Amino acid sequence: MSSTVGNQFRVTTFGESHGPAMGVVIDGVPAGLMLSPEDISFELQFRKTGNYLVSGRRETDEPEIISGLYNGKTTGAPIAIIFRNVDAISSLYSQVSHKPRPGHSDLPLIKKYGRENWDYRGSGRSSARETVSRVAAGAVAKKLLMYTSTYVSGYLKSIGPLEGSHCTDPLLSLNSKKFQTRALDRETDKKYTDLIKTTMKEGDSYGGVAEVFAIKPPEGLGEPVFHKIKAELGMALLSIPAVTGFEYGMGFKASRMKGSEAADEIIKSDEGELELRKNMAGGMLGGFTTGDDICIRCAFKPTSSIRIPARTVDLDTLEPAEISVTGRHDPVVAVRGVSVAEAMMAVVLADYSRIAGIIPHARLSESESDLIEERWKEYTGKCQ
Ligand SMILES: Cc1cc2nc3c(=O)[nH]c(=O)nc-3n(C[C@H](O)[C@H](O)[C@H](O)COP(=O)(O)O)c2cc1C
Repeated sequence: MSSTVGNQFRVTTFGESHGPAMGVVIDGVPAGLMLSPEDISFELQFRKTGNYLVSGRRETDEPEIISGLYNGKTTGAPIAIIFRNVDAISSLYSQVSHKPRPGHSDLPLIKKYGRENWDYRGSGRSSARETVSRVAAGAVAKKLLMYTSTYVSGYLKSIGPLEGSHCTDPLLSLNSKKFQTRALDRETDKKYTDLIKTTMKEGDSYGGVAEVFAIKPPEGLGEPVFHKIKAELGMALLSIPAVTGFEYGMGFKASRMKGSEAADEIIKSDEGELELRKNMAGGMLGGFTTGDDICIRCAFKPTSSIRIPARTVDLDTLEPAEISVTGRHDPVVAVRGVSVAEAMMAVVLADYSRIAGIIPHARLSESESDLIEERWKEYTGKCQ
């Protein structure tokens, strides 16, 4: 059961939803990076539970950094962060223990590992509680990417049939951090909020699409054949629970276009650089980053745990049964999913920047570390 992603910036997550703690180990962070629990908490605020639009489970998500730091800076050793689970209520899952939920991981886990080894409490490792570890790793990756002045930021493009405002400039996606729904603007936030409330009342759920950008990424990350940067991002994004689709740039629309429309025309800039005029490729071409902003989209399916009854089978009697899932669930997982998608993009880009030798392997100098800190403050300031 592998829980590790990455090559030179390696992320391993651990912990179960109703176990004592969740955690993450991050290998490959150079020494000298200033890092504090507040840096991690900054990113975690965007996947928080407990408000009326998302799961009602109230976790404090307080990061305890238990390895890899000395005097507030990384040492080059693995960084380990844990989050104690403080609000697990296992009794809410008594029904799930014998009635696998349609659309969730229950049945496939039982078939692969055996019912006797299945931790059904809060969905065990398959719980989106695991994504707290991803977002923590994403915070470290995002901070490291300040070395190249790269920002990773996204927003919620749509919920179910409702299309939000179109993002004309990737930097505008930072505005979405002001809204609980991760909408781009106030008007869309209101529409999303109304739709989520109605869906909750009906005991149902909706899917959604997150659009995520890497703004000013380094050029040339990735490989030309198997480890294309698009393939690495695809793998990382599709590993997020409930993600059913991934596209970048023109995406599926490209299949309906003519070559003349899709052509990424090459021009010489005023500075004499060769550039792609329209960035139709979404920042990735031939397996590499082009240096243009990366644009990806991922589709989240509707939450499978819903109050509306659905057919299943009782595992104790093997008779047909019905399940209506109550308890604390996100009506639209894509809302909190935006921050998870950002985290996975940042992890991949930090990894490939380390592989390319763009981010130093062993240590950051004091001036590099100060510069990163300055840029991080600028970034967090722009998200307020
Ligand atoms: C941020 C986030 C929150 C989620 N919350 C829930 C939830 O409250 N209830 C639920 O049934 N599924 C939730 N999911 C989805 C399940 O974790 C996911 O569907 C399940 O693990 C099966 O994986 P798969 O859909 O990728 O096959 C959430 C996913 C994400 C990314």
